[in-house]
Amino acid sequence: MQRITVLGSGTMGAGIAQTAAQAGFQTTLFDISDAIVQKARDGIAARLARVVEKGKLSVADSEAAMARLAVTADLAAAVAQADYIIEAIPEKLELKRSTFVQCEQLAPAHCVLGTNTSTIMISQIAAPLRAPGRLIGIHFFNPVPVMRLIEVVMGPQSSEEAYAATLELARRMGKETVRVKESPGFTTSRINALIGNEAFRMLEEGVASAADIDKALKLGLNHPMGPFEMVDLVGLDARLNNVRSLHAALQMEAYRPSPLLERLVAEGRLGRKSGRGVYRYDAKGALIPGSDEV
Ligand SMILES: NC(=O)c1ccc[n+]([C@@H]2O[C@H](COP(=O)([O-])OP(=O)(O)OC[C@H]3O[C@@H](n4cnc5c(N)ncnc54)[C@H](O)[C@@H]3O)[C@@H](O)[C@H]2O)c1
Repeated sequence: MQRITVLGSGTMGAGIAQTAAQAGFQTTLFDISDAIVQKARDGIAARLARVVEKGKLSVADSEAAMARLAVTADLAAAVAQADYIIEAIPEKLELKRSTFVQCEQLAPAHCVLGTNTSTIMISQIAAPLRAPGRLIGIHFFNPVPVMRLIEVVMGPQSSEEAYAATLELARRMGKETVRVKESPGFTTSRINALIGNEAFRMLEEGVASAADIDKALKLGLNHPMGPFEMVDLVGLDARLNNVRSLHAALQMEAYRPSPLLERLVAEGRLGRKSGRGVYRYDAKGALIPGSDEV
């Protein structure tokens, strides 16, 4: 396995392409326009420059990684020689399906088709493919260069060959894996959404302040971040969507979205990205202590 093609150059795709190029793969990053992929390439170069500044990467290794990274807005050229495709385009079933149908025609027969979907069933994406066993979930975490886990998500038809190739890819990228059967929220999102939703319910009930719930989970349960710090980072709107889709899929009361979470989203308190979520943030993006009023 030498050539990796990443589809979609947004938050996840750019991080995945950077990680693949740094791991020594000939990497091609595809998006729908030249301007978008070029911007993503510039972003990766800027991130690598910061890693070099911190003394964690040599100039030579950074240059070698950039030399292995090609960008294009031509799908046929992007996948023609790929050994492994990682799709990180928007979370829309029809878009993912049509993209993989094209990849199945344009990529070599041995090429594994990996999707970074967070919520869609692998079998649904694979349904229109002639060889659905080629498709597998390869679920990365943000920021990709830093986060160590990949959830490898098996649809009922995902092949053991695709699984073995995914493990090899993960190992060479320096990542750890877990094997997960396709199911709503896989392992991480299902638990995280539950904790996050429950934290909002506790806040609503007046069990403790947001800052104290965060402190309790960090110091008492050894979570690296509190649930409110976390939701401010991922976005309250993204969390609400996730909880809603898990509630619809699992039909469990615990996933019924907390009214407080719904209210904050309706008020535009979306987290760090809007300057205010559960907490407020200053102009430099630092959390303002004592700002956890809801
Ligand atoms: N953001 C996260 O924390 C996270 C974590 C794990 C998985 N995911 C999943 O990764 C995928 C991408 O998420 P993201 O946050 O990087 O999204 P994003 O919006 O940052 O990026 C999506 C990119 O796809 C491009 N795009 C749109 N249509 C395309 C097409 N037809 N072909 C190729 N590219 C196309 C867009 O121009 C954009 O650059 C989604 O499936 C998401 O659920 C996201």
